[in-house]
Amino acid sequence: MQYRDFGRTGWKVSEISFGAWGIGGGWGQVSEDNALAALHTAIDNGVNFIDTADVYGDGRSERFIAQVLKERSEEIYVVTKAGRRLNPHVAEGYNRQNLTAFIDRSLKNLAVEALDLVQLHCPPTPVYYMPEVFGILDDLVQAGKIKYYGVSVEKVEEAIKATEYPGVQSVQIIFNMFRQRPADMFFELAQQRQVGILARVPLASGLLTGKMSRQSTFPADDHRNFNRYGQSFDVGETFAGVDYETGLDVVEEIRALVPAGATMAQFALRWILMFEAVSCAIPGAKNPKQAADNAGAADLPPLSDAVMADIKAIYDAKIRPLVHQRW
Ligand SMILES: NC(=O)c1ccc[n+]([C@@H]2O[C@H](COP(=O)([O-])OP(=O)(O)OC[C@H]3O[C@@H](n4cnc5c(N)ncnc54)[C@H](OP(=O)(O)O)[C@@H]3O)[C@@H](O)[C@H]2O)c1
Repeated sequence: MQYRDFGRTGWKVSEISFGAWGIGGGWGQVSEDNALAALHTAIDNGVNFIDTADVYGDGRSERFIAQVLKERSEEIYVVTKAGRRLNPHVAEGYNRQNLTAFIDRSLKNLAVEALDLVQLHCPPTPVYYMPEVFGILDDLVQAGKIKYYGVSVEKVEEAIKATEYPGVQSVQIIFNMFRQRPADMFFELAQQRQVGILARVPLASGLLTGKMSRQSTFPADDHRNFNRYGQSFDVGETFAGVDYETGLDVVEEIRALVPAGATMAQFALRWILMFEAVSCAIPGAKNPKQAADNAGAADLPPLSDAVMADIKAIYDAKIRPLVHQRW
């Protein structure tokens, strides 16, 4: 495993980290045994940074993390999110009372006295233009409930706006072979402002592992079934917003570029790590085998300029028209 600087926090975070949505819920059934083993295996492989949220399995993900960390002595950073418990999910809900209540609940779930970092969880766009929300987060830092805060965003423009607030330490954004716009529009600014970047949905919900086909099916409680067309939340969170069948065709072109000895998941993750502005990729893993496979991406040698150019050409020709101007 290799480690990178994370914003201005002074943390050194594993460049392959762990996304803990899937072990909470929303991805079909994941047993407690598999969830705990996936976390342990990630840590065994050098992962020291876990991304979760209060709503993943309504706290199940946070509680699993607390359970595992009780058994580990390594220093592990756990970043969570707040905001999505709001119903309706509206900008006015991002007020002092609600944010404090959400953070108090995460403190309990994670069994810690202060949260390492809290991200606003893809809030409605107007929240980025409400400095009072960031003021409340500053107060929560002052009060010792949270050490740092950041944002998880849908759109590049939201990322740019969020980094105007001096307290914002990190931006989580969808970045993968199917979602390349952040590299054009945001990475340089993030480096200038010393803001950490978490690359989420790095495997395009598993599509970029190369294991899916037109015959693949997903259970009713898996967002790749119930949110395929954005019925429940932003469609960009499912297969990175790329039409499934188009994605499958493009995956076949990418497969030809996977180096010998690497899995396609590792190749997709290594591509993300080629961008030095990225602090870490946070692939989801539902079992120990996936967690180990993903962590192994950090040990692959850098990709050649020729391979990077090939991926860019494939994106420009096949994927860019579908996604580039949407997020
Ligand atoms: N709004 C937000 O802030 C937000 C939204 C989305 C995600 N996130 C964060 O980002 C993290 C990562 O994104 P994601 O989980 O949505 O998608 P992802 O990392 O692109 O895909 C994860 C899924 O791919 C499959 N997989 C993972 N590793 C694999 C491997 N080595 N081989 C084969 N299959 C593998 C697993 O599902 P199957 O085995 O079922 O195929 C896994 O659940 C989340 O866990 C969460 O922490 C945040």
